Amino acid sequence: MGSTTTTTEDKSKAAAFRIGLGDITPNNLGQLKRLNTVLFPVVYTSSFYKEVLEVGEFAKIIYFNDICVGGVCCRKENVPGSTSLQNLYIATLGVLAPYRRLGLGSKLLKHILENAKLPSSSGPKIAKVYLHVQTNNEEAVEFYKKYGFEVVEKCENYYPQFDVKDAFKLEKVLIEKN
Ligand code: ACO
Repeated sequence: MGSTTTTTEDKSKAAAFRIGLGDITPNNLGQLKRLNTVLFPVVYTSSFYKEVLEVGEFAKIIYFNDICVGGVCCRKENVPGSTSLQNLYIATLGVLAPYRRLGLGSKLLKHILENAKLPSSSGPKIAKVYLHVQTNNEEAVEFYKKYGFEVVEKCENYYPQFDVKDAFKLEKVLIEKN
C-alpha cells in the first residue's frame, strides 16, 4: 500500500489516524469487489474490474489504520471528434458508513482531481470529470458540490432496476471547450 499519513492540514478530525491510498492490484482486487458490493446496488462485471486494473492512478483503495474502508474506480472515455481530450467518468467512489465524515471520500476525490489535472506529456488531457448519482443521494450531491461539481442534467430512468430510478449527472469542467 502506498501509505500517506494524514496530517492536521488534511482534516483535523482524522488527524490521529493513519490514512493511506493504495493501488489496485490483482492481490487486493477481491477487497475492492467486496467493498463495492456493500457500497453500491449495482453489480459490476468482470470487464469493469479488468479496466480498473489498467487505469493506474484513477482507481484506488483507501486504508484507515490499515483497514480497507473505501475506494474509487474511474474510466477514461474518448471525447467525440477529439484526439487531444478525454473525459474521466467516476463509476464508483465510496467509503464504508462507520468511516464517513472523516475526510476519506475527500482524499479519494482530491487524488482523482489532482491526477486528472496533471499535464500529459503525450496522451490526451482530461477535459471534464463526471458521474451519476441517484437523485435521493443528497450526501453524495453535497459531497461533489463541495469540490466544484455541478448538476448538469437530471437523467430520468437512468437506473430502471431500482426504486429510485432517476439520476443526477454532475460534472466538473477542467478544460473549457473553445
Ligand atoms: N451530508 C451533507 N454533506 C456531506 C455528507 C452528508 N452526509 N457527507 C459528506 N458531505 C460533504 C460535506 O461538505 C463534507 O465536509 P464536512 O465533513 O467538512 O462538512 C464533505 O462532503 C467531505 O466529506 P468527507 O468526509 O470527505 O466524505 P465521506 O468520506 O463521508 O464520503 C461519500 C462521502 C463518498 C459520498 C460517502 O457518503 C459514501 O460513501 N456514500 C455511499 C456511496 C455513495 O453514495 N457514493 C457516491 C455516489 S456514487 C459515485 O460517486 C459515482
